[in-house]
Amino acid sequence: MDEQVLKVQKIKNGIVIDHIPCGLALKVLKILGIEGDIGSTVTMAMHVRSKMGWKDVVKIEDRYLDDREIDKIALIAPTATVNVIRNYQVIKKHHVNVPEKIKGIVRCINPKCITNQNEPVEPEFYLVSKNPLVIRCKYCEREMNAQEIANNII
Ligand code: CTP
Ligand code: ZN
Repeated sequence: MDEQVLKVQKIKNGIVIDHIPCGLALKVLKILGIEGDIGSTVTMAMHVRSKMGWKDVVKIEDRYLDDREIDKIALIAPTATVNVIRNYQVIKKHHVNVPEKIKGIVRCINPKCITNQNEPVEPEFYLVSKNPLVIRCKYCEREMNAQEIANNII
């Protein structure tokens, strides 16, 4: 085995979040609620070589993601792929995609927005632009950029 190439071991079962833009692996773990002891084995590689430049990779054993979690990853790391691993094989590869409607995933940064007034109104945004990432609140029309979105994931 080539020690120069082997960075992180393959996993038997779980998920591999691959092609994360460099520096964002910790943020991806945070939005998945992975902080402290979570009872699954997590391995991470930051700033590793990929086919196109550099990337971060996160592997979580014995854990699977729902669609909402995959949408959250898209908002933080739009280039990521989520690979589902069963018995060492990649059985599914999701190319994450920012949805046109973003419901209940991001908090509006406008403190006066109806969604921040203790009313039973779930935050909802429309996608304005993918690159650079911009979304607009359905209720107060406030626009949020990638950095603001990353800091306000629910
Ligand atoms: N992987 C893993 N454990 C496995 C199988 C795959 O950790 N049992 C990792 C690989 O190291 C890779 C990712 O999961 O980082 C996706 O695997 P694969 O689709 O085989 O790799 P590529 O073809 O290089 O994927 P892509 O085309 O998406 O870059
Ligand atoms: Zn708003």
